[in-house]
Amino acid sequence: MFKQVKKRLTFLYTISLLCLLFLFIGILYFLISHEINQKQVDEVNGYFSKEKMDFMEDLYEKKHRGVEYDPNRTIFYYVYNQEGNLRYGKEVFQNLVGQIKKTEGNSSIKRMEWGKKHLLLVKKTLVINGVLYGFVVLGMDITGEEHVIQNITWTLVGMTLFFSLLFAYLGYYFAGQAMIPIKRAFLKQEKFVSDASHELRTPLSIFYGSLDLMQREEKLSAYGLEVLADARAEAELMNQLINNLLFLARSDKKELPLRLENVNLSELLENTCKRFSRRKAESIALITNIQKGIYLRCDELKIQQLISILLDNAFRYTVDGKIIVSLDTRNERLIITIEDTGCGISSTDLPHIFDRFYRADLSREKGGTGLGLSIAKSIVDAHGGKISASSIEGEGSKFIVFFSREK
Ligand SMILES: Nc1ncnc2c1ncn2[C@@H]1O[C@H](COP(=O)(O)OP(=O)(O)O)[C@@H](O)[C@H]1O
Ligand SMILES: [Mg+2]
Repeated sequence: MFKQVKKRLTFLYTISLLCLLFLFIGILYFLISHEINQKQVDEVNGYFSKEKMDFMEDLYEKKHRGVEYDPNRTIFYYVYNQEGNLRYGKEVFQNLVGQIKKTEGNSSIKRMEWGKKHLLLVKKTLVINGVLYGFVVLGMDITGEEHVIQNITWTLVGMTLFFSLLFAYLGYYFAGQAMIPIKRAFLKQEKFVSDASHELRTPLSIFYGSLDLMQREEKLSAYGLEVLADARAEAELMNQLINNLLFLARSDKKELPLRLENVNLSELLENTCKRFSRRKAESIALITNIQKGIYLRCDELKIQQLISILLDNAFRYTVDGKIIVSLDTRNERLIITIEDTGCGISSTDLPHIFDRFYRADLSREKGGTGLGLSIAKSIVDAHGGKISASSIEGEGSKFIVFFSREK
């Protein structure tokens, strides 16, 4: 249990720190890359504003035709007329012009890869007095900046990985620290329950003995005998309660010894059902659907106790109707189902029925201590199985126990 809480704490702690880290790194990345990109676009835009009139000339002067190659430029451009025909251009990379036509679309800012180069392309229309004369595609080699952004990205990814590990480690350490007082309080409480129930056993057995003695030695009136019987019944209930508490305290401390042996589960279920059917009310039908010859490596007495708890509940909370007990196998799993058509459990009670001392209001006057299902669960847990309950109020309940045969 502590391990699970510690894991959860570590997980929550790490996740919250990582969320903050991702947010911080995301914002940082966005700001840096946005700043670099904006600077490049500004540079191209500035060039266009400065050279706008020259581009107009390029468009109309006859001698300005074709593409000139000039590898020393920073910004290259291609001037197109209204129909989209190339008139004039200055390029830094030979033969790039063929690519431009294909890649340049309607959006005015575009980034493209050309071989190993990263290029920024900005499309600008040449409009004078509201009349469209053509357009210019301006471009710039941004390979250097792209590499800077890539380096920053890798550095940030590396930092994220490093900090994730660091946070997970720190989270684990701090979760451990936070658990110390909780663990101490829990162990103290556990010891208290175990000691108290242990200590209560002696006076209770003396009390029992005294009741027996009184019954034998004293000549009691009818009323006196009735009182004595009541006292006996209460003592019996208290004995049961103390035994249950001791059982749970031991199971918490993992001191519940399991005597594992190969048990014929089919027979065990049949016999337990028979025992219950002998003292059942006429109005209840007990139906069994038990597959024969199914074995499980388990502690026989404890599994018997588990079945008895579930059957006891089924009978206790069913006035008339059916109780169906089945045993089935499915893919290396054993499935025990105990279903009844009794009073059912409300959806508000259902999530709590395996809690200690939890009893639905309906069952207050039906006896019992509210520890049965917690014991059932601890037995199932100790065998590495699973128990679950489903119910519709007023219609009935179904308890399913799964065990794995591979153990
Ligand atoms: N088969 C059932 N039908 C209806 N309610 C049930 C059934 N089994 C358990 N419950 C509910 O779950 C509660 C807890 O069960 P349990 O731990 O066995 O305690 P109890 O001693 O009250 O039987 C019961 O008080 C009852 O409200
Ligand atoms: Mg019960």
